[in-house]
Amino acid sequence: MKAFMSMDRRKFLNLSSLGISSFTITGFIPTTAQEIALGSNPMSNINPVVVATWDAGLAANLAAWKVLGNGGKVLDAVENGVKVTEDEINCCVGLSGNPDRDGHVTLDASIMDHEFNCGSVAFLERIKHPISVARRVMEKTPHVMLVGEGAQQFALSEGFSLEPDTLSEDAKKSYEGWLKKSEYKPVINIERKQATSQLDPSLMAPPKLSNGEWNHDTIGMIALDSFGNLSGSCTTSGAGFKMRGRVGDSPIIGAGLYVDNEVGAVVATGQGEDVIRVAGASAVVEQMRQGKSPAEACKFVVERIRRIKKDKAKDIQVCFIALNKKGEAGAFALHKGFNYAVHTKDGNKLFESSSID
Ligand code: GLY
Repeated sequence: MKAFMSMDRRKFLNLSSLGISSFTITGFIPTTAQEIALGSNPMSNINPVVVATWDAGLAANLAAWKVLGNGGKVLDAVENGVKVTEDEINCCVGLSGNPDRDGHVTLDASIMDHEFNCGSVAFLERIKHPISVARRVMEKTPHVMLVGEGAQQFALSEGFSLEPDTLSEDAKKSYEGWLKKSEYKPVINIERKQATSQLDPSLMAPPKLSNGEWNHDTIGMIALDSFGNLSGSCTTSGAGFKMRGRVGDSPIIGAGLYVDNEVGAVVATGQGEDVIRVAGASAVVEQMRQGKSPAEACKFVVERIRRIKKDKAKDIQVCFIALNKKGEAGAFALHKGFNYAVHTKDGNKLFESSSID
């Protein structure tokens, strides 16, 4: 692989050009009941916080907090955090996720730091940690996005291992069930039952669905460190039984993930196509820039999707979580059932998101 350009050339915006030096971290200002109060951090007067999608976010947050709680950097936190979910044995994220309609698991992931550096991979097969490949794309190439075979080649050249092209036990069962009808139909809030074996049961929320399945989807994580910097990450195996080659919102910067260190960070989960068509994460950031709280900004964009989808909105779920520069967190979803985990110095808690219905 040819030598790539230095990082300096890609740092086309820096903190001083954004006026960050004059931006004061004021601490928590509650704006809705859903938003989370933060404690103080002995490392600085800035209070770290990490927010992640779904109940799987609880375990992911613990790994992120190991970095943030020790005064570490936010980019390391958001990478380490979602790697926990990518490692889960029976989860929709990572290689144990549901395959495409041809029976192959294809992965999408993205990462973005506080200086507009970003990297992503899409349609990546047989690599265990797509989020780490996305970070290498960001840090070691002149590009933002690598897909398919090229992304895999790059991963191998970076020392990642090629995993077997097999399905997890749960994915195999789901796929065999799906093959009977072979119809593509999104299911709101449900990907598959999540294995709880690797999680601390005391951290788990009660099942939200009558059939006892855990509701979860893509893992998205946004965080603020004690340096006052924001970063975000997002990783998924995408929609189960999708067409081969389908890419969702998660690896698309501005759709599934966006970070502007002057304003805030946002990540999306749910029906990727409907997040992409409104440039969802970027749209939420712009609403925060105009003064909305994180929850209000998420609501504004979800309502827009609701208007666009009209009657079809009942068939899909779309959710956003947002974190602003002050450390205020919020979320909003199209339908009930979405939850998100917030870790501050006061602990790691699961919150039910507000929704349109
Ligand atoms: N939000 C994940 C996907 O649609 O692929």
